[in-house]
Amino acid sequence: MKALILSGGRGTRLRPITHTSAKQLVPVANKPILFYAIEAIKNAGITDIGIIVGDTHAEIRKACGDGAQWGVKITYIPQDAPLGLAHAVKISEEFMAGESFVMYLGDNLVKDGITTLVDEFRGQGYNAQILLAHVKNPTDFGVAELDGGRVVHLVEKPKEPKTDLALVGVYMFDASIFKAVNSIQPSARGELEITDAIQYLIDNGYKVHSHVIASWWKDTGKLEDMLEANRIVLDGLEALCEGDVDDDSSLLGKVHVAKGARIVNSVVRGPAIIGENTLVENAYIGPFTSVYYGCTIKNCEIEHSIVLERSEIVDLGTRVEDSLIGKNVKVGSTTRKPKAYRFMLGDNSEVSVIQ
Ligand code: TTP
Repeated sequence: MKALILSGGRGTRLRPITHTSAKQLVPVANKPILFYAIEAIKNAGITDIGIIVGDTHAEIRKACGDGAQWGVKITYIPQDAPLGLAHAVKISEEFMAGESFVMYLGDNLVKDGITTLVDEFRGQGYNAQILLAHVKNPTDFGVAELDGGRVVHLVEKPKEPKTDLALVGVYMFDASIFKAVNSIQPSARGELEITDAIQYLIDNGYKVHSHVIASWWKDTGKLEDMLEANRIVLDGLEALCEGDVDDDSSLLGKVHVAKGARIVNSVVRGPAIIGENTLVENAYIGPFTSVYYGCTIKNCEIEHSIVLERSEIVDLGTRVEDSLIGKNVKVGSTTRKPKAYRFMLGDNSEVSVIQ
């Protein structure tokens, strides 16, 4: 069995981060989301992985390489444009060479892995296996209608959903999916939809099995979901201090301080993770915060946030919360007159200031 991870796409819901970077490389608890997918696939015993890449291919190739760091073999499959999930499957036909495969959306996180699900699919001779989860906002997802345990109908982002069962971003297929993706037409939004491809299988008598998962799963395509994923993963963190913490500082609860990080006259209240060579000085880092490597957090307070590499947050009078700060960002204050906000923000940035 092989695997296909989808790491192309537009990432419009995570702008401006995705103007310059791949959303699949945003770190959750200081590890790129994509790496969780590769690990889950490896743990399920699959080592031949194709990764669909788009505009951000160089960054993804640099981060994952040939897969040797996980003991897997990675093949990159370029997608000229994000023409849909089923289009990504279509262009992987040669790579799959007739084998069954797991398709994993590179921005999704399944907390308990996929090993038992892959084993279930392997043993049963299904043509496809889809995973479903109960969600509060089915209009944001592909939604399934069941008759007993049998899937009868799938609709992509329905306006009036008939169930709250969303399609989780992990699918298992045998080679019959290629017949489906080569038979369907683009949807109204111009994409080849995976829901249409699976519907084709259902309508043509193929065996499509569904499995409602109980474990936690997240599609991290937008900010709140990214913060929630970070929260859940940090919650499972073990306390570990590999950096320097001075006598005037305290680490409370599950806090991970990586090598070369320095905590000076500060309080870090876990669960939280501080990356390599990051300096935290005269600061408070609150629960559910991940600060990546090479950052400076000084004279300020931050909580329930993700800070990417080499960013500086310095001299703020008000706590930063619920934020995703990109790479090499500087957030600070000034005594310069006139007293004013001075911004240089990328397209589609969002800033909330205190009135
Ligand atoms: P989505 O999150 O559904 O789409 P998107 O990445 O274009 O984001 P947005 O809706 O915010 O614009 O994609 C799910 C995953 O599949 C994600 O990792 C990107 C990937 N993908 C591809 O690789 N190729 C594609 O054609 C599409 C649509 C998505």
